[in-house]
Amino acid sequence: RSLGPLRDTIVFASGNPLADLMFVGEAPGAEEEKLRKPFVGPSGQKLDQIIGAMGFSRDAVYISNIVKFRPKKGDGRFQGASNQKPDPTQMEASIRFIRAEIEVVAPKVIVALGATAAEGLLERGGTISGLREQVHEFAGVPVIVTYHPSYILRTESESAPAKAKATKRLVWEDMLRAMELLGSPASEKQKAYFL
Ligand code: URA
Repeated sequence: RSLGPLRDTIVFASGNPLADLMFVGEAPGAEEEKLRKPFVGPSGQKLDQIIGAMGFSRDAVYISNIVKFRPKKGDGRFQGASNQKPDPTQMEASIRFIRAEIEVVAPKVIVALGATAAEGLLERGGTISGLREQVHEFAGVPVIVTYHPSYILRTESESAPAKAKATKRLVWEDMLRAMELLGSPASEKQKAYFL
């Protein structure tokens, strides 16, 4: 019943179901709903860039979201391209699906993109700056928490280049940690890289 107020197009997941690396976002947006694929809009392009810099292709990793339907704004009629954060009941109703995906994929590392993904997986709130300092765990799998790609896009569009650069560096450091946990530590060139 909690899933009822969501929109009705399912956007499940994409990528390699045998991947060692799994990314978990919040919920699909307008582009994702249209193409029925997670992270294909502007945030997805940023995520592709991050995955590429790690030395992987999008098809080699597994990409999913906590909530599989785009949360509705009001009754959805005037939503346009804008997005709504899923509410706690919607997240709670969705968590069993991501738990099952994690069981099937059995990744070596999960990267939680943004506060909603972290909240859903870790069942605790907190800021990204606080959560990204440690390696967490979900069902025995290490979880790295980092900023959502849409946050990077926002800092880039705020014409605050120093903030955007600092955020990107933090995200990249989180990805370097994820690579180490994967057992494929970054090269010197990758370590020096700035997103
Ligand atoms: N943001 C998300 O959290 N997930 C998507 O699939 C797209 C944008």
